[in-house]
Amino acid sequence: MIALSINGKTYHVDAESDTPLLWVIRDTVGLVGTKYGCGIAQCGACTVHINGVATRSCQVPVGSVGAKQITTIEGLAQNGKLHPVQQAWLDLDVPQCGYCQSGMMMAAASLLKTNPKPTDEDIDGSMTNICRCGTYQRIRAAIHAAANKA
Ligand code: FES
Ligand code: FES
Repeated sequence: MIALSINGKTYHVDAESDTPLLWVIRDTVGLVGTKYGCGIAQCGACTVHINGVATRSCQVPVGSVGAKQITTIEGLAQNGKLHPVQQAWLDLDVPQCGYCQSGMMMAAASLLKTNPKPTDEDIDGSMTNICRCGTYQRIRAAIHAAANKA
């Protein structure tokens, strides 16, 4: 059994230590907001925070996580209040199909933690997630909106 701290709760999961964290989060724990896109660290759909840092969970063996704190999209809101990134996403109607968007929001929240007022260049440089619907302009606008609220 492997103990994991996800969204402030401890889970004991029966998994091989080399199983990608993504699959444990989705299939074992049942938090399906984190998505599978490519499985090779390219798309960012699987992005979660590990100790606050945006991380592609398809590339993280579950056995390597240890006591680090994992946050998924389900844990981004705090005390019933949406994270500024989530609110901005709603206000600006960012998603199209929505598939990439939980990963996008996790990446954006992590960016704002280290760079509270990012420029367009900062956003383009750090938001490397892929959106097949091409919502990049609205994502950028929503990050600026969230930065102004935070
Ligand atoms: S599923 Fe992890 S980066 Fe695409
Ligand atoms: S909203 Fe469809 S992939 Fe991004």
